[in-house]
Amino acid sequence: MATAVVASLAAASAPRLLPLTNLRVGCRWALQQRKRCFELARQWSSASRFLFPERRVELREGKKERSLLVVAMDQVTSGKARSPSADDHTEPSSDAESELLHSLYAIPSIDKAWAIPSCQGGAGFDVVVAMSQVNLPANAKRTFLSTVYIPETSSATITDYHWSPFPFEISGASLIVPSPSGAKVLIIRNPKDSTSPTNLEIWGPGQLLREIFVASSVHGSVYGDGWFEGVSWSQNEESIAYVAEEPVVSRPVFGQSASTPGQNSNATLEAGNWKGQGDWVEDWGESYSGKRRPVLFVANVSTGAVQAVEGISRDISAGQVVWAPQPASPDGPQSLVFVGWSSYAENFSTPRKLGMKYCFNRPCHLYHVEAPVPDREPSDAPREATNLTEGVSSAFSPRFSPDGKKLVFLSAEAAVKSGAHNATNSLHLIDWPTDLIRIGEKPQVKDIVNVVQHAEEGAFPGLYCYNLVANPWLDDGSTLLLSSAWRSQQVILSIDVESGNVSRVSSSDSLASWNLLGLQNSCIVATVSSPIQPSSLHLGHSASVGSPLKGGKEWKWSAINVPSLKFASKIESVMQSMKYELLQVSPPKADPLKSLSVGSGQPFEAIFVSPTGSIRPLTEEPRIESIPPLVVVLHGGPHSVSQTSFSRNAAFLSMLGFNLLHVNYRGSLGFGEEALQSLLGNVGRQDVDDVLAALDLVIGNGMADPARVAVLGGSHGGFLATHLIGQAPDRFATGIARNPVCNVSSMVGITDIPDWCYVEAFGKDGLSNYSEAPSVKDLSVLYQISPIAHISNVKVPTLFLLGAQDRRVPVSNGFQYVQALRARGQEVKVIVFPEDVHAIDRPQSDFESFLNIGVWLKRFIQ
Ligand SMILES: *[C@@H]1O[C@H](CO)[C@@H](O)[C@H](O)[C@H]1NC(C)=O
Ligand SMILES: *[C@@H]1O[C@H](CO)[C@@H](O)[C@H](O)[C@H]1NC(C)=O
Ligand SMILES: *[C@@H]1O[C@H](CO)[C@@H](O)[C@H](O)[C@H]1NC(C)=O
Ligand SMILES: *[C@@H]1O[C@H](CO)[C@@H](O)[C@H](O)[C@H]1NC(C)=O
Ligand SMILES: *[C@@H]1O[C@H](CO)[C@@H](O)[C@H](O)[C@H]1NC(C)=O
Ligand SMILES: *[C@@H]1O[C@H](CO)[C@@H](O)[C@H](O)[C@H]1NC(C)=O
Ligand SMILES: *[C@@H]1O[C@H](CO)[C@@H](O)[C@H](O)[C@H]1NC(C)=O
Repeated sequence: MATAVVASLAAASAPRLLPLTNLRVGCRWALQQRKRCFELARQWSSASRFLFPERRVELREGKKERSLLVVAMDQVTSGKARSPSADDHTEPSSDAESELLHSLYAIPSIDKAWAIPSCQGGAGFDVVVAMSQVNLPANAKRTFLSTVYIPETSSATITDYHWSPFPFEISGASLIVPSPSGAKVLIIRNPKDSTSPTNLEIWGPGQLLREIFVASSVHGSVYGDGWFEGVSWSQNEESIAYVAEEPVVSRPVFGQSASTPGQNSNATLEAGNWKGQGDWVEDWGESYSGKRRPVLFVANVSTGAVQAVEGISRDISAGQVVWAPQPASPDGPQSLVFVGWSSYAENFSTPRKLGMKYCFNRPCHLYHVEAPVPDREPSDAPREATNLTEGVSSAFSPRFSPDGKKLVFLSAEAAVKSGAHNATNSLHLIDWPTDLIRIGEKPQVKDIVNVVQHAEEGAFPGLYCYNLVANPWLDDGSTLLLSSAWRSQQVILSIDVESGNVSRVSSSDSLASWNLLGLQNSCIVATVSSPIQPSSLHLGHSASVGSPLKGGKEWKWSAINVPSLKFASKIESVMQSMKYELLQVSPPKADPLKSLSVGSGQPFEAIFVSPTGSIRPLTEEPRIESIPPLVVVLHGGPHSVSQTSFSRNAAFLSMLGFNLLHVNYRGSLGFGEEALQSLLGNVGRQDVDDVLAALDLVIGNGMADPARVAVLGGSHGGFLATHLIGQAPDRFATGIARNPVCNVSSMVGITDIPDWCYVEAFGKDGLSNYSEAPSVKDLSVLYQISPIAHISNVKVPTLFLLGAQDRRVPVSNGFQYVQALRARGQEVKVIVFPEDVHAIDRPQSDFESFLNIGVWLKRFIQ
């Protein structure tokens, strides 16, 4: 496709003819100087097309605007170019960028891994790795499994591993869950529509052992969302507990032969009848549209019988189920522990369900319930599930220790209590007596790792972990491993649950990010990646084999190279010249009258990624033009974090020749609770100033040319991008926003998380002053903190990427801002993805988004 550079022109004065040579010069000049392009085009002749050796220029007139198309001639003549048509505004793509992005899409990602004891016994084991590659034409993902055998080893580095010769694609599987012994695997295939059955396949070493079809009248899709999701094999591997959507609620039938509307809802429709809609059922908001309540089920592996778990109130959404330890007496009842979320948002005193996705401030508790015995008649009066964590407002990710004597869990109580959507987590423990906690008993909750308010330099900044692996324990049975954000890195931590001692297990020499996938024989399976290196598999074990593994021990790491993992050689060579570093940014001076917490005065970080290899000028003063243009990249949330891990889309921008600055402004995860809380009530000011402080730092260091800076962000990052082009209009040449928050006073009435608007705008008061019917006074504050309040200052072209199914920041929020910009005569490009939700991550949408972002950035800052 041709490089079609489209400049929209406000209706201009009558053009006059220019000589061709002038035009050629003018055109080159126009390509370099976008602004001048407008003036030039305004003077151009009424002739609509010119041809000359390198460029073809077209001036086209629409009803209201003129467009100037400059098409690279070499691409036109190569035959690949499409001749631009009247509606060509949306095709600024190019072969080179598209090819580069395609080769980045070909890089497989390592999604999960299961470490499985070897069937030969001993310390050797297998690691089954689930990887995926994007299938762009199908707009889907291909998942495939490969196995590597890790032999028993006494030396500190593992070199003698064997991969299976090639991977196998697993198509149509929603979940893959090996049994603890590794002798069986459960593959769940969710139904394609609401009337088809769900398919559970149980495979043994050599064959399919059982296939269970669960009718839609029993349950709908099994949850595989990473949050409510939970599939647990019982210790004897005879039963499976899992979370699925409750069956469809029947809809009323109306019409002539429907005797009593709403009654015979089950019946097949007769002629002249139709189904009504029935009552509205509230769902969990963004990404859960139309999803029914999560409910627990137990399947008997040998008979295939499935039974719903009784004793859970209809008001509770249940998830993350695990089996409690086997009862001491063989015929004692089996029981389950699960997480329950009330439909009533207690902390905001509202009877509604507030959006669940990405929000960890929803109160939740652990419950203990008797497991049903499939095929046996359910009892008439099932015993109510017991609330195990009444004293803690948030409890999730329950895991029993290998001896069954301890139940540990994570808590986001700091988020529940402050109202922030994410905050610093804590880790807790319940002693689980061997003589079995009786259902109904209320145990004592102990604290293991508390919320860290602020940390000294280099010290543990607090827990930022939202999910534990299925078996997080080292062989000593009391050391638990997890991955957590540690400033701008993701690290692996070991926690001694007896002393609460936390130590860093992943190498502290490297700036890369580590993710724990699983454990076997005290050997850690992890992935490591960095902005300049896609994920690779690593194995870690204690340097002193056999010694008790307490905090602070040395760990040795070996890379387990996946033989098939090869990238396009061009990518490999570009990545080799890339560099990144972490910058420490001092917070801008605050209002001296405000009392500041210690944590909010500590430096925050920014990740600087450079494609050229030289981050800082080494010898003489660099010429400012030789510095790559800079893209400031801002994460959403705001309580989320940009990490030093690999991102295909960020790598794409680097490879196009941009320096990237990912700013972890105060409020980001990983920097202690005080720094995080300092943002509440100060959005649109403190975060904006933090980004500008980081930008000043790189400009001051000679790492950026102030004339060639762009800002890019999604969600809260889009809120910041639009704020920055309004509040600091001279600092950015363009802004790019994906599903941005632009007008909080309009968002509050239409989003699934109106609580976010209150907490971010009003801080602590937001929790107590929350209202489902905001007052005019509240609305005016919400307006004041919004980017739309600064729209009259915006003077640069902008690109918007919007998902029409977004319930978090509904598409009207971005559109309102876009229309306001257009009305002011600003150049705006908008792409709407009709099927996409907040994340805009469906493969084809993601591809189109970043291809356009790349081409747009080249046009405005290169
Ligand atoms: C599974 O069902 C069989 C047959 O009813 C029964 O003998 C067995 O105990 C059941 N297993 C479990 C774990 O409930
Ligand atoms: C609805 O259908 C189910 C299964 O087909 C059946 O068991 C049940 O009796 C039916 N209920 C009514 C009210 O017809
Ligand atoms: C469990 O306890 C908490 C804290 O007291 C309470 O808010 C919650 O409603 C309880 N859950 C149920 C189902 O009663
Ligand atoms: C926990 O850490 C402290 C300080 O590092 C150390 O003194 C103590 O011995 C550790 N406790 C255990 C049980 O390892
Ligand atoms: C909360 O943190 C998780 C993990 O980093 C992140 O995926 C999510 O977007 C965050 N949510 C918000 C609202 O910041
Ligand atoms: C922002 O939202 C409010 C509330 O919906 C609305 O009244 C106002 O017109 C919006 N502002 C702009 C500039 O669109
Ligand atoms: C919250 O409500 C209290 C009492 O109604 C009021 O005094 C305070 O100003 C409110 N805070 C905000 C930020 O509106």
